[in-house]
Amino acid sequence: MNILITGAASGIGYDLARVLAYRHHQVYACCHTEASYEKRKSEETPYLHFRKLDIIKIEDLSILEEIPFDCIVNHAGIAIGGRLIDRVEEGKLEENFEVNVWATMRLIIRYIKDCQKENRSGKVLITSSLAGYFPLPYLGCYVSTKTTLTMLSQILRRECKLENLPISVKLIQPGAYHTGFNQLLLSGVEEEKMYQKGRKLFFLLEQNETHTIVNKMVKAIESSSSKFLYRAPCYQAFLTKCYQIFSKV
Ligand SMILES: NC(=O)c1ccc[n+]([C@@H]2O[C@H](COP(=O)([O-])OP(=O)(O)OC[C@H]3O[C@@H](n4cnc5c(N)ncnc54)[C@H](OP(=O)(O)O)[C@@H]3O)[C@@H](O)[C@H]2O)c1
Repeated sequence: MNILITGAASGIGYDLARVLAYRHHQVYACCHTEASYEKRKSEETPYLHFRKLDIIKIEDLSILEEIPFDCIVNHAGIAIGGRLIDRVEEGKLEENFEVNVWATMRLIIRYIKDCQKENRSGKVLITSSLAGYFPLPYLGCYVSTKTTLTMLSQILRRECKLENLPISVKLIQPGAYHTGFNQLLLSGVEEEKMYQKGRKLFFLLEQNETHTIVNKMVKAIESSSSKFLYRAPCYQAFLTKCYQIFSKV
């Protein structure tokens, strides 16, 4: 398969790209900046290709016309932490939504339209987060983007089904993995007590290896089943389910 992955210069996206290339897919691992692209391009193989793609830059989206991608993995994201009132005033809530939601949705819609124009089927993976179910104080900007992304993925999937579009939509919900992403999120939390609480929480929850979620994503890409939701690690998915059942809003 020809597979495009956004935000693949590091973390889960990078690990996924390497596993998929090992499995002989043609993988286009996209890097946010020229600098991250330069850093990665020497690692290219006949199966693993690097490209520069900043999802908020409309001109970068032309990569979709280069290759008929069988699957796009919308993995790029940013994490802005801190007091909601302050972050709204500073325009940071908007910034977090711009990358995680609007730019992601623009890329997806462009891909679906290209598939329709060329009369081919396609697959869309959307990386949301288990955190999107928890109203976490001081992490609200980021968490709310993921709640929105989860809802949009569900709606997009239903609309594609109702209209018989040959587009398969898969929702990926990772728990906490130690990629540096959560530390970036916490770095925005200025309140010392909350920062320390967050540090402890991630210390307890974060998985050092990404293979549990990467394996789920590989399954979502390679399988032709209609399964929609892929979560890992297992115990965090279970805890989230319990929270969904027992929490009273
Ligand atoms: N790690 C976790 O615990 C966890 C849990 C749940 C969900 N997730 C989700 O997984 C995704 C990636 O997280 P990760 O843990 O793999 O961390 P990561 O390595 O920091 O991955 C995020 C990637 O997105 C890229 N990116 C940021 N803005 C971009 C833009 N405008 N255009 C293109 N790429 C952009 C980053 O590039 P630069 O670094 O160069 O900016 C980085 O490569 C995120 O969507 C996150 O919400 C992570």
